[in-house]
Amino acid sequence: MKPHEFRRPGVHAVHSVHRFVFSVPELKTAEHFYSSFGLDVRQHGDRLDLRTDGHDHIWASVHASGKPKRLEYLSFGIDAADEATFAARIAEHGIGCAAHPLSDGQGLWLRNPDGIAVQLVVAPKVSPSEKTQIQPKTSVPAGKAAAPSRSQVQQVRPRHLSHVLFFTPDVMRMVRFCTDILGLRLSDHSGEGVAFMHGAHGSDHHLVAFAKSDGPGLHHSSWDVGSIDDVGNGSEQMRNSGYTQGWGVGRHVLGSNYFYYVRDPWGSWAEFSHDIDFIPHNLDWPAADHPPHDSMHVWGPALPEDFITNHEQHG
Ligand SMILES: [Fe+2]
Repeated sequence: MKPHEFRRPGVHAVHSVHRFVFSVPELKTAEHFYSSFGLDVRQHGDRLDLRTDGHDHIWASVHASGKPKRLEYLSFGIDAADEATFAARIAEHGIGCAAHPLSDGQGLWLRNPDGIAVQLVVAPKVSPSEKTQIQPKTSVPAGKAAAPSRSQVQQVRPRHLSHVLFFTPDVMRMVRFCTDILGLRLSDHSGEGVAFMHGAHGSDHHLVAFAKSDGPGLHHSSWDVGSIDDVGNGSEQMRNSGYTQGWGVGRHVLGSNYFYYVRDPWGSWAEFSHDIDFIPHNLDWPAADHPPHDSMHVWGPALPEDFITNHEQHG
């Protein structure tokens, strides 16, 4: 496999979130939620694979466990040229572990500081290597009506996974791990409460992010859509499917994306995201510490009270 063309010279770093994997009590509920969200959901035995429209990559797998929702493992894509360096780093830090039993067993395995298994697998770069194109705003000449009737609105179908946000008891310890071991770079943070990290070889403003809790967990996955209308239509699509709790529509400060978060059946969230900032492989982003009251959203409704509750710790 050839390395992708956008590499930061001399840097050994993961290039993509290859997959995130979690378990839920049963699959029917998950199938309904993610199909309603506009993902391509395919069942294989007691597992669902989540793809996006027109993209054959499996971004996430959901396993049936008969137990409450739980983050199982996280997989990052790497270039073959970096594999030996990662193997040496893992050995040097003594953080190697066995492959997760729900995984394909491929690649290198290590534990992050919270004890969550992490896979590093040689794979194509699936995170964007340049700013994702937005759909041009449709405007009509004077004398015409621009909005479609409700019945004409097509289902919103996300285009790719943008990022995943995890809970952790120690955000800055996780930032150090991601920097030193995975080669991720800090984009921005707000004290020790939340931090956003991007790929050294070019990625959206955050590939992964971390929010403080008293244990690990999966807070939300975020999926790119092509327009602000798609964010709004996505929110409507979920309300029409019975998922009435959410946050948005709004615009984030850190990452700048327009968002709508819908509450999933397990108390965590899935985000429709539009026009997130992009950090090229050859740019040093000026990471900064932003005060909490000035970093969450530029505009939008008030945050739901339970938005940052970690239901994997407080079922
Ligand atoms: Fe997000």
